[in-house]
Amino acid sequence: MNHATVIGTGSCLPKRIVTNRDLERIVDTSDEWITSRTGIKKRRIAGAGEENFQLASGAAQQAIEMAAVAADEIDLILVATFTPHMTMPSCACFVQAEIGAENAFAYDINAACSGFLYGLDLADKYIAANPDMKILLIGSETLSARVNWQDRNTCILFGDGAGAVVIGSSSDRGVRAVNLYSDGRLWNLLYMNSAKSMNPELQQDQHGCQIEMSGRDVFKFAVRSMEEAIRQLLRRENLTVDDLALVIPHQANVRILNKLSERLSIPKEKMFVNVDQYGNTSAASIPIALDEANRQNILHGDDTVLLCSFGGGFTWGALLMQW
Ligand code: ACO
Repeated sequence: MNHATVIGTGSCLPKRIVTNRDLERIVDTSDEWITSRTGIKKRRIAGAGEENFQLASGAAQQAIEMAAVAADEIDLILVATFTPHMTMPSCACFVQAEIGAENAFAYDINAACSGFLYGLDLADKYIAANPDMKILLIGSETLSARVNWQDRNTCILFGDGAGAVVIGSSSDRGVRAVNLYSDGRLWNLLYMNSAKSMNPELQQDQHGCQIEMSGRDVFKFAVRSMEEAIRQLLRRENLTVDDLALVIPHQANVRILNKLSERLSIPKEKMFVNVDQYGNTSAASIPIALDEANRQNILHGDDTVLLCSFGGGFTWGALLMQW
């Protein structure tokens, strides 16, 4: 059976860097508080010409170049995002036009911070059905457009950016096993309302058109659920932490990652962390980290790599791949 395997990676970050000190001038916070509670030191914030689809396209161009495929050889474009600049058409259709992938079909998926993992699982299923496919999978967010810049509980956490992978097929590498979960009953611990309803019968509470979050609950649930997802996956695959070359988790908060390391006895050097540089970029965080790890030559042929994520929904999961 053929599996989805990464043949190129790319990323695109906005030019503007916003440090914790910059945020001290916007809300009542401090570099010390943000660093000690989250590990975040800076984040990138989009400016003119850096809409979600433009960041996504920038990341896509890099991944396509590395994969050495032509844009018109791409069969499918999937963009994981919950902050598209338009709800319709999809961000993926904008990317298609931008990069000239005229033979692709294209659509967005929304699983919040778990979007890239869900997308990789989806790509794996397409590849199993049709091993000749070339799939462009992107995680891209402009969270700065949807946070309340007066709310110090949330605005300090997030950043903008995009990461992309080109996926081909292999019978001995690629996605090896995956565990995905959702629990919609817990939606109100982390959510963002959509645009105002024009139907008075469906008039929703306009509160919460920005990201709303119950930080402590999210923290506890994120640690517990990712830990369990990873344990189950390793058990099922007959692997231990010693078999893993690298863990690339969703980059939300360094304290969440430290807790995961502690509970699962993952050595610090096996846990890829760049949340200090970019903050939480939601669906973009794993592909940005994957691209960095790839370009730093941290990943080697046949390494076993574990990806894990947690986000709004709640959605969460873990995925193993042979690099
Ligand atoms: N600067 C200074 N003080 C702050 C700030 C800030 N930016 N934000 C909150 N505080 C204050 C609070 O008002 C509170 O003050 P009080 O005691 O006078 O009421 C105090 O700090 C403690 O607040 P808590 O919310 O209890 O702080 P906590 O230690 O839980 O840290 C945090 C908050 C960082 C949000 C943490 O709960 C967290 O990281 N949760 C996970 C959230 C997350 O990662 N969400 C992203 C989306 S989901 C995902 O990607 C996994």
